[in-house]
Amino acid sequence: MRRFNIAIDGPAGAGKSTIARLVANQLGFIYVDTGAMYRAVTWKVLQEGLLIEQIKEITEVAQGMDISLMPGANGQLVFVDGQDVTSDIRSSEVTNFVSYIASIGEVRKLLVEKQKQMAAEKGIVMDGRDIGTHVLPDAEMKIFLTASVTKRAERRFAELQVERPELTLAELEQDIARRDHIDENREISPLVRAEDAILLDSTSMTIAQVVEQILDLCRSRVLGGIS
Ligand code: DC
Repeated sequence: MRRFNIAIDGPAGAGKSTIARLVANQLGFIYVDTGAMYRAVTWKVLQEGLLIEQIKEITEVAQGMDISLMPGANGQLVFVDGQDVTSDIRSSEVTNFVSYIASIGEVRKLLVEKQKQMAAEKGIVMDGRDIGTHVLPDAEMKIFLTASVTKRAERRFAELQVERPELTLAELEQDIARRDHIDENREISPLVRAEDAILLDSTSMTIAQVVEQILDLCRSRVLGGIS
């Protein structure tokens, strides 16, 4: 099958990662979770004990670290300088800080460059916030995946019930709304739908339905009906 790139953008909790991974599996493409890269930088910055306002030092940390992404049995594995940080980057500490780190221009420049290189050979499904607008403006398929704040909070709530039973739905809703606000209002590459991205609202759709719809769009719009 012809290899092409798919950009999937949208707010936190819309199901991008799960959906992008399943679409990539179906097509035999490589899945790249760019949020994990911003989380990896945030994890390292916290390890170094830096404060959000230490932009110069944060940039140096981002420049000096090696981030690698590898496919694992249950999703993408993330390594920083050879250390597996896959679960560490999902901690609430990292989640609370990542939007700030992702708003630093120099950090974005570095990561966007890496992401462009990863997609150069095509056959990539990349998810994030600025993939269709900045990282892969020429992606053959662009999806903007969204869902209501309540629905997104409910999904996170179900996911985190075992791991973080103390979290309430209201707290998650607030956290999602706060992250949306930062991501949508930052100066550099804010979360916005690319003009040529197809809007999919997954509020009342199952994961399987969203995946099937994206595959159908790829068949009809990119592969011209050939599967
Ligand atoms: O998708 P996520 O929740 O793992 O993303 C973590 C943070 O990184 C989120 O605040 C938005 C930011 N991000 C970004 O600014 N650009 C991307 N391409 C991906 C994520």
